Amino acid sequence: MPFDADGLWSPPKVKVSYTKLERKLIEGLEADLSAHMEAAKPKRYAHSLSVALTAERMAAAYGVDPCLARVAGILHDWDKVLSPAEQIARAKELGVDLGVAPELVQPLFHGMTAARHLPERYPDLPDCVWQAIDRHTIGHSCMTPLDMVVFVADGIEPIRRDVPAIHEVRTLVDERAPLEDVYWTSFYHGVSYVIDTERYLYPGTLDIYNELALRRRADKD
Ligand SMILES: [Fe+2]
Repeated sequence: MPFDADGLWSPPKVKVSYTKLERKLIEGLEADLSAHMEAAKPKRYAHSLSVALTAERMAAAYGVDPCLARVAGILHDWDKVLSPAEQIARAKELGVDLGVAPELVQPLFHGMTAARHLPERYPDLPDCVWQAIDRHTIGHSCMTPLDMVVFVADGIEPIRRDVPAIHEVRTLVDERAPLEDVYWTSFYHGVSYVIDTERYLYPGTLDIYNELALRRRADKD
C-alpha cells in the first residue's frame, strides 16, 4: 500500500493535465470554499480538499473525467458549515425527504441540500456534478462512475485513519479492482457500521443495499 512522507495513504499516482480553463475553474472553486469554510471548519476544509484530490486521482485511474471529480469533491461538503439544526431546516426548505426521525439521519442531508441550492450559484457546472454530490452520503443503486468515485473518495481520503474497513477499500483502489466492487465494499462497510453501533438506519439505505445485493448476485450467476 503506497504511503507518503507523513505515513498517510496515497491515492493513485496518475498524471492529470488540465486546460487553462479547467485550472481556472478549480482555483476559483477552491478560493470560494476557503472563504466559505476554512475559518469556520478548518478540518472539514482540509477534508474537502483531500477528497477532491483523491477523487481526481481515482477518476484518472478509472477513466472518469478528473476535473468533474475534483470539482464535485471540492463542493461536496459545502453545507457542513451549518449546525445540525440548520441542516435539518435547510433540508426541509429544499424538499428533502426527512423521514420519521430527521435528527437521527441529519448527517446525511448536507449532500442532498448542497446539490439542490448550489446549481444557482454555479449554473455552468453540469448536472452530473450535482448528482454525485447528492448521492455522496447515502449512495444509490444505480451509481455512475463519477458518483462512485466521489462516494468512495469521501470515505478513503488520506486524512482518514487507516481502520480495517477503510484499509480494505484503499487496497481495492490500489489494486484497481472494478469500481463497482470498490463502491459496494465502501457502501456495505458504511451500512455495517450503522448496524454494529445500533444506530438508526436511513430507511432508503435498506432498499439500496437490497438492490445492489440482488444485482451482484445476478451478475455472479
Ligand atoms: Fe465528506
